[in-house]
Amino acid sequence: MSVISFKLDEANRISSDTGGYFVKYTKQDNKYWVLPSECPHRSGPLHLGKQCRQTGAIVCPWHENRISMRCLKRNSMPVVVNRDTINIVFSDDSHKVWKEFHL
Ligand code: FES
Repeated sequence: MSVISFKLDEANRISSDTGGYFVKYTKQDNKYWVLPSECPHRSGPLHLGKQCRQTGAIVCPWHENRISMRCLKRNSMPVVVNRDTINIVFSDDSHKVWKEFHL
């Protein structure tokens, strides 16, 4: 198990042996989430999807299905945010963190 920490403005994407994730702030609950970036349908890149204004669901860019935040949060990584730093607990030690500017 390992904990990785980074400034919220320095990175927003994480990969590990358990899969890819992206950092998402949600106004609905005023929280940061580390959500899986693979769509449960056919592994579409959810980190490239838009968020539905009405429901908060992420719209998959491949087939335009709406993946509910409830579903994504169920598969999110545990995080603690202190001011501008996010701390994420991973079950493995192999992870990579980077910034994607279009998110
Ligand atoms: S891969 Fe996301 S809806 Fe099909």
